[in-house]
Amino acid sequence: MSNSSQLPGFRNLSPSERIDVLSQHIDLDIEEVALLRDDGALSIEIADGMIENVLGKFELPLGLASNFMINGRDVLVPMVVEEPSVVAAASYMAKLARPGGGFLTSSSAPLMRAQIQIVGLGDPANARLSLLRNKHRLIDLANTKDQLLNKLGGGCRDLEVHTFMESPRGPMVVVHLVVDVRDAMGANTVNTMAETVAPLIEEVTGGTVRLRILSNLADLRLARAQVRIAPECFETSEFTGTDVIDRIIDAYTFAAIDPYRAATHNKGIMNGIDPLILATGNDWRAVEAGAHAYACRNGHYGSLTTWEKDREDHLVGTIEMPMPVGLVGGATKTHPLARLVLKILGVKSSQELAEIAVAVGLAQNLGALRALATEGIQRGHMALHARNIALSAGARGEEVDQLVRQMVMDHDVRSDRAEALLNELRK
Ligand code: COA
Repeated sequence: MSNSSQLPGFRNLSPSERIDVLSQHIDLDIEEVALLRDDGALSIEIADGMIENVLGKFELPLGLASNFMINGRDVLVPMVVEEPSVVAAASYMAKLARPGGGFLTSSSAPLMRAQIQIVGLGDPANARLSLLRNKHRLIDLANTKDQLLNKLGGGCRDLEVHTFMESPRGPMVVVHLVVDVRDAMGANTVNTMAETVAPLIEEVTGGTVRLRILSNLADLRLARAQVRIAPECFETSEFTGTDVIDRIIDAYTFAAIDPYRAATHNKGIMNGIDPLILATGNDWRAVEAGAHAYACRNGHYGSLTTWEKDREDHLVGTIEMPMPVGLVGGATKTHPLARLVLKILGVKSSQELAEIAVAVGLAQNLGALRALATEGIQRGHMALHARNIALSAGARGEEVDQLVRQMVMDHDVRSDRAEALLNELRK
């Protein structure tokens, strides 16, 4: 049994045949195969327990990006997304990255921040020193709450005090608890700790505690990925590899200097990351919030990636960003498909998942930059979007392929055109 993430011909199979290939690949048992084949993998009982006022379930396609090699390991990447060409572009760029060894990744410890806001203080500078003097008492108190986390090697590690001497409501002091949350996303853990230490903070400072909640700017929980690709990998009939690399770097520079472009550029990165976050049942809003806030850390909104040329004229790309994801708790635990997705990924820790997520983001960014800087986004995207258009015009079975072929050949992918073609075909 091969465990390569290269899946030749996978794109031409039916969904059922793809499940067969996958189950040979990673040894899925009968129940796991049934989860993928069954439209109702998430039971209504579980769904009803997950959120409030449940009416039903809302489905999205689950695709598999191929070709990823990350730190020398082949990784199949499940992606839940409604947008065509995302999975194809990620697979394509992962394929181009393979000859150079794929993606190399690293990450910081899984440290999250909880914030505790203190108001009603006339002496913020004095309050700050009182808090720092009582730092170990506060950290010890925070650590009384989660014995399991302590046993796993996590827990509150540090305390910072941020002082705002002036605000429209007077001075404000904000305590940050820095907590190693191990394999959890950590929101509940750090919120509980923040609530636990609040009375002692009031006693120490004489102020009044208001908010006690995590920060989504998870700038101490960073994941990183690098990639290096030779010019010949980018060669086409129209462009030399070196030309493509220069064009990609120009496109990146545009994002680095212009926030209007940076927003779209970073959205393209999240096109790769969000589908993986969603597939693993993690909180993609938290990841989004952290990403965009981090992109502003230097005082202006910029790119989350960098693209440069090394001494041998290879393209080198990097990404570094907050990645607050977990393997335990929340929907990751309750959604049966999320569990299966973690098995497909073969991840053992939240850090490993975080690193895969940023590697996919880097690949996705490259996919969009390469297309934009050369042939433009529409050819590849619209060819794949044509299937959507054909389906929404009412085409089924064989008709879909016929309509797609015709619209792509005519460079005319539109709903009214699809409807007209379908009418002709059915006559
Ligand atoms: N399904 C799965 N993978 C696909 C695919 C499909 N329909 N089409 C392309 N790929 C991937 C595969 O990895 C393929 O390698 P393989 O043939 O060994 O399996 C690789 O891409 C190259 O395939 P090819 O048919 O030569 O692709 P192309 O040159 O026509 O490129 C896109 C098509 C969509 C991949 C390319 O245009 C692209 O990357 N566009 C950017 C899309 C993007 O950024 N979208 C998001 C925002 S709009």
